Amino acid sequence: MKCRKCPSRAVINMRQHKLALCKDHYIQWILDQTEKNIQKYKMFTKEENILVAVSGGKDSLALWDVLDRLGYKTGGLYIHLGISGENDYSNQSMQFATKFANNRNLQLHIANTVDMIGSTIPEITSLSRRDKTKPCAICGLVKRHTMNAIANDFNYDVFVTGHNLDDEVAVLFNNTLNWQIDFLRRQSPVLHSKAGLQKKAKPFCRFYERETAAYAILSEIEYIEDECPFAVGSTTIHNKSILNQLEHEHAGTKLSYYLKFLKAKPILFPNIDEDFPSMDDLFVCSSCGQPSPKEGKCSYCRLVEEVQSKKLLR
Ligand code: AMP
Ligand code: FES
Ligand code: ZN
Ligand code: ZN
Repeated sequence: MKCRKCPSRAVINMRQHKLALCKDHYIQWILDQTEKNIQKYKMFTKEENILVAVSGGKDSLALWDVLDRLGYKTGGLYIHLGISGENDYSNQSMQFATKFANNRNLQLHIANTVDMIGSTIPEITSLSRRDKTKPCAICGLVKRHTMNAIANDFNYDVFVTGHNLDDEVAVLFNNTLNWQIDFLRRQSPVLHSKAGLQKKAKPFCRFYERETAAYAILSEIEYIEDECPFAVGSTTIHNKSILNQLEHEHAGTKLSYYLKFLKAKPILFPNIDEDFPSMDDLFVCSSCGQPSPKEGKCSYCRLVEEVQSKKLLR
């Protein structure tokens, strides 16, 4: 198959876009589409400082590479979660993030849950009252808090994550299956800053996972291929495989599901903007100062307190 734009051989065929491209035109297409997304959803400008949350995986490192090539001012954040497993997951992924930053002379902030809370994510999970078999919810809480805190402390204007279309539709699918109205209201390519919550954006939200993977490989970005060992058997992975079946039968299903949801949002939620929760629904955490839906301490600070008091009792 030939590239749509030149006589070279195509390296990727995107059925949903009816578009086959050679290596050079594909890399340029990803750069152009990312820039378009940034503009369309008013994510950030070249004058702002952008914190890229990098996991060491293909999506977030490809995103950092793209933003750097497009001329945005970026720094990175890697959060060491203390997850080991067969592949020594956290140490390995940190090495990929560090190598990427060093090779390009970019600043990388490294946060470690052992320094912040005194424990790794698996230890925190086993000490907390929550479901001890599922560290992902606790891990998500710690990551959100840390991204917001580092963005605030180092004066970044916005933090960005490498969530791709497959991630977004898997969450959308789960949220519609369970009619999680509050989550649906908040699901957006960009959330503007509010009451101490930093602005947050997902510039890759319209790219399929295979497209970000192809970009990372063609750009020779080295990344951790393994998933977090706790992701095995998760609802998200199950949802992704169902959505892949639908996509296989009808190319473009995932993209249209997501884009039609974004189009329907103003009709579904006519009186509430995307920045839910509103200021009126938020309190300031008495310990860390980050916003919280409850009075007193936020969920993160309550978790830290619980873990530290249990450690003292051991
Ligand atoms: P995940 O929730 O693992 O699918 O990751 C979604 C996005 O969150 C990634 O693309 C990264 O931008 C960010 N992220 C995940 N894990 C980390 C981490 N350990 N440190 C910093 N950012 C992360
Ligand atoms: Fe958080 Fe897997 S990355 S539990
Ligand atoms: Zn070409
Ligand atoms: Zn707090």
